[in-house]
Amino acid sequence: MGFTIRTLVEDDYQSFCAVVSAAFLGDPDPADAAFERPLYDLDRVHGVFEDGEMIGSAAVTTRDLTVPGGGPRPTAAITSVGVRPGHRRRGVLTSLMRAQLHGLHDGGREAFAVLWASEGSIYGRYGYGLAAQFTDLSVPRGAAFHRGVDVGDGAVREVSREEALPVARALYERVAPTRAGYLSRTGAEWEQHLADGERHRGGLSKYRYVLHPRGYAVYRVKFAWGDRGPENELHVRELVAEDDRAYAALYRYLLDVDLVAELKFYTGSEDPVLHLLHNPRLARRANRDSLWVRLVDLDRALTGRGYLSDVDVVLDVTDEFCPWNADRWRLTVREGAAGVRRVTDEPDLRLDVGALGAAFLGGTRLTTLAGAQFVRERTPGALRSLSHALLGEVAPHCPEVF
Ligand SMILES: CC(C)(COP(=O)(O)OP(=O)(O)OC[C@H]1O[C@@H](n2cnc3c(N)ncnc32)[C@H](O)[C@@H]1OP(=O)(O)O)[C@@H](O)C(=O)NCCC(=O)NCCS
Repeated sequence: MGFTIRTLVEDDYQSFCAVVSAAFLGDPDPADAAFERPLYDLDRVHGVFEDGEMIGSAAVTTRDLTVPGGGPRPTAAITSVGVRPGHRRRGVLTSLMRAQLHGLHDGGREAFAVLWASEGSIYGRYGYGLAAQFTDLSVPRGAAFHRGVDVGDGAVREVSREEALPVARALYERVAPTRAGYLSRTGAEWEQHLADGERHRGGLSKYRYVLHPRGYAVYRVKFAWGDRGPENELHVRELVAEDDRAYAALYRYLLDVDLVAELKFYTGSEDPVLHLLHNPRLARRANRDSLWVRLVDLDRALTGRGYLSDVDVVLDVTDEFCPWNADRWRLTVREGAAGVRRVTDEPDLRLDVGALGAAFLGGTRLTTLAGAQFVRERTPGALRSLSHALLGEVAPHCPEVF
């Protein structure tokens, strides 16, 4: 192996930034490094060292993630995973993943971990399951709503960033605990989420801020003019509303901005906008993976969320990477309260911990995972009943990449 692993101290920070930028084919940027420093607890960031040089890194950030029926729960949000080119395929990532997941278990920290994957084939081997998807949405300007839509009478106004941010933040803090997949945000995480320096804009306009009495939206404009007139695109960064009318009002506003040809939005996979539209086919959509979830301690994780129905099943769980989860477990949900305990009873279902991670946010059906051979049913009916119990009321959505 020839390398060592440890958590970082302040003197390591510049090397850590250099590893991450090299891993992502970027150039180190001192301004970015300074801007992002408040996002990290260095004693939760691991570095891998060889001959005194840092060659790999992975960070845990401390956040809450809203789970179905359970509200916000502490989660280890994993980020800044990278190995320097030239040091790859020698097990550096595997040692980082082990240090993180075993460390969380040994320290009794967060019961589950979440991440966005740069490539879809990296994290399954470590027991992460694909738990949520986002929709890459595109709707032409002016697309009409169906006749029953009520946008209410709340005024929609464009305001300055200074006016918008405190209002948006307070509103987000009311709404996020009720939406599966939403994360808590510190001030630094807000700054990062809505970072608006020239280098953050990718050639688009600065952010524009829209307030409604019960919602807000943030967007940029991508400028384009064609032979037949404006082809500008309105790129929505975030749209959050406390109720359906505010939601419709904000969408209506964004869809009617003059000189825009197309609205673009990385939104939730079940964004109701599809059904707001009179002609849903106008919404062009492509789904992609968003959150991957890893149950660190499956008993603590599964008792921390709500369930759609009662269930009583014995699970035979495999988990090569975190062997303390590999056992037979009885999951019992009665009147909303879940219990999970080790048993020796005959199992009703056999599955890998990654399938439980995939189903954890209520957006990936266990029946679908069984179709993909991640789950085997041994007692007829057990799959259907657990699949239903695990579903969320709406598909999970994580509105930010971290
Ligand atoms: C992805 C990355 C961190 C992997 O690091 P690494 O040290 O080469 O990984 P390891 O040597 O520990 O690989 C462990 C296993 O994962 C596989 N693997 C690693 N990277 C992979 C990838 N990008 N796609 C598919 N499989 C991958 C390896 O082949 C190996 O498989 P094996 O156990 O069957 O031999 C590294 O390639 C990297 O920094 N990539 C660019 C930045 C990035 O994408 N980071 C992830 C951000 S979410």
